[in-house]
Amino acid sequence: MAVIQQLWPALLSLSLALALPTAARATPSPDPNSAKACAALSTALPHLVALPNTPAYAQHSTYWSARQTEVHPACFVAPSTTQEVSRAIALLTSLDAPFTVKAGGHTAFAGGSNIAGGVTVDLAGLDGIAVAADRRSVAVGAGSRWINVSEALDPLGLAVVGGRSATVGVSGLTLGGGISYFSGRYGWACDNVRTYEVVLASGEVVEATAGGKHADLYWALRGGGGSNFGVVTRFELNVIEQGDLWASSVVYPGVANATVIALMHGLLVEGLAAHPAAHTYFVMTYVAALGGYVVLSDQFHSTHADGTATPEVFAAFHDAALPTLSVNTRLSNTSQLLRDIEEPFGDRQTSWDTTVAATATPELLLDIVPLFEKHVARLLAAAAAANSTVTPYLVYQAISTNIIQAMQVNGGNALGLRPEDGPIMIVQVTTTWSSAALDDMIENSSRELIAEVDALAASRNATSKNGYIYMNYAGKTQDVYAGYGKENLARLRSVAKQYDPTGKFRNLWNGYFKLW
Ligand SMILES: Cc1cc2nc3c(=O)[nH]c(=O)nc-3n(C[C@H](O)[C@H](O)[C@H](O)COP(=O)(O)OP(=O)(O)OC[C@H]3O[C@@H](n4cnc5c(N)ncnc54)[C@H](O)[C@@H]3O)c2cc1C
Ligand SMILES: *[C@@H]1O[C@H](CO)[C@@H](O)[C@H](O)[C@H]1NC(C)=O
Ligand SMILES: *[C@@H]1O[C@H](CO)[C@@H](O)[C@H](O)[C@H]1NC(C)=O
Ligand SMILES: *[C@@H]1O[C@H](CO)[C@@H](O)[C@H](O)[C@H]1NC(C)=O
Ligand SMILES: *[C@@H]1O[C@H](CO)[C@@H](O)[C@H](O)[C@H]1NC(C)=O
Ligand SMILES: *[C@@H]1O[C@H](CO)[C@@H](O)[C@H](O)[C@H]1NC(C)=O
Ligand SMILES: *[C@@H]1O[C@H](CO)[C@@H](O)[C@H](O)[C@H]1NC(C)=O
Repeated sequence: MAVIQQLWPALLSLSLALALPTAARATPSPDPNSAKACAALSTALPHLVALPNTPAYAQHSTYWSARQTEVHPACFVAPSTTQEVSRAIALLTSLDAPFTVKAGGHTAFAGGSNIAGGVTVDLAGLDGIAVAADRRSVAVGAGSRWINVSEALDPLGLAVVGGRSATVGVSGLTLGGGISYFSGRYGWACDNVRTYEVVLASGEVVEATAGGKHADLYWALRGGGGSNFGVVTRFELNVIEQGDLWASSVVYPGVANATVIALMHGLLVEGLAAHPAAHTYFVMTYVAALGGYVVLSDQFHSTHADGTATPEVFAAFHDAALPTLSVNTRLSNTSQLLRDIEEPFGDRQTSWDTTVAATATPELLLDIVPLFEKHVARLLAAAAAANSTVTPYLVYQAISTNIIQAMQVNGGNALGLRPEDGPIMIVQVTTTWSSAALDDMIENSSRELIAEVDALAASRNATSKNGYIYMNYAGKTQDVYAGYGKENLARLRSVAKQYDPTGKFRNLWNGYFKLW
């Protein structure tokens, strides 16, 4: 095992070097307007523009997924103040230059936050974090990562409703929704934003709040994504008093899948709503080194830090009769939990998802497993033929009724979820691999599996209302906004038209999910 781990990085880089088709490395000729924009930006914002073949350009090209790193913009521009973002956006839109925005850079698919031949605005320099004197809110620069926020708040005994992995960006996660350890009590990250400071397509800077002048923009940004509305430069987030959390990661052999899924189903329909401080997700994966399929239940409890005894809501997962491969129970601050769940940079990545309505019995969630096994068999065969690594994941994440209730504060969010339509389960299919030769095959297989899950749910009368798809785990070609419901989609379009009347973002800022 140890030897395999030591050799792993070397094998990985070797296989990457061998397998990358040259097409994936070619730099497309820049869009003519982007080339002009890079020159104009260099004049307007000296020292903030990075051109190809410079150390700064290589630095900005660091993304979580190798598929994004391989995309080559004409230049990066790296503002570190709101005014600089405003200058950059005003220039880009006036020159009709295609661009995109990078925050934490964790989008899996190519072009999610990078743009071939265009201009990528890297927000990493907007990294200020300021806790309010009354300890009720924190102002967070849009380039911050969750670890930066938790490292500022943990020592104060405070936390935010934010992401669960260290280097994920505050911006992307919060704009698309944001599942947190604390969601059972407070909803998703987007439901805990007090103020968005936003640069509009014109370059104008506005503040969007629930009751203020831009309440409609505030609503749209609460889960509606950024790329149709504006570049958020600062988030003012609610802060909660929070010490250590209780956490347990239990790994079971694959044969236990039915038992663990049945327990997860129980939490979805009942347990989580009865225990809003509890949070959990389920993962099934195939790891040859562990002998095949394994199942993981990750459990968190934010008001149970008085001892390591298992909280009642998770007791059945720790039944001595269940076979386990490992159990890691601890009391931990948020920063440590964020580091525990960190996923390494540099592999190829994809993620697709859907939701299914809760049913009276766990059958639907159990019957997804054989569909996942077919997908895994396809992937293992293709990976063997291409000498690629591959790690496939099936993930279940609950949207229990207490979460949906908490989402309704301050006029509700843009996601279109109502308490009476819940609970629902996110079914997420994520894959990590090394060879570019497998990209199309893995995208196709993921799409097929999600279509099979949707068909299975439909046959069981368990399609979720509107067929909600969580944007932040969606595949590039999934119709995310259709899942927000007709009414919300129409409202989002009208907000986009109001704040970007000439459709600059619609035409120039592509790559993530679009309203049209
Ligand atoms: C390892 C890992 C762990 C994760 N954990 C969680 C989790 O716990 N909970 C959860 O809900 N999700 C989670 N996700 C999903 C995550 O929410 C998305 O990947 C999210 O898009 C990441 O945000 P980012 O800023 O890092 O990404 P980026 O790729 O930089 O940005 C995502 C999108 O937002 C746009 N954007 C970025 N910044 C701005 C801005 N300031 N204004 C307007 N638009 C902007 C970008 O253009 C891009 O379209 C996880 C993902 C990974 C890979
Ligand atoms: C964010 O956190 C990382 C990891 O601790 C650190 O390396 C980085 O310097 C931090 N960024 C800022 C602006 O503090
Ligand atoms: C979190 O806990 C770890 C482990 O106990 C500790 O090393 C670290 O300093 C803590 N971090 C913060 C930011 O308090
Ligand atoms: C999942 O559980 C079912 C029911 O117990 C079992 O038949 C199947 O073999 C399990 N799958 C795996 C991959 O172990
Ligand atoms: C697969 O990789 C191994 C070692 O990394 C190498 O010996 C072998 O030739 C490769 N096979 C193919 C088909 O590329
Ligand atoms: C993926 O699907 C597309 C569209 O259905 C098809 O054209 C393509 O050949 C498929 N590629 C692979 C590798 O399966
Ligand atoms: C399907 O579900 C709806 C509500 O969820 C219910 O009204 C309807 O009777 C169900 N139909 C069948 C065939 O079970």
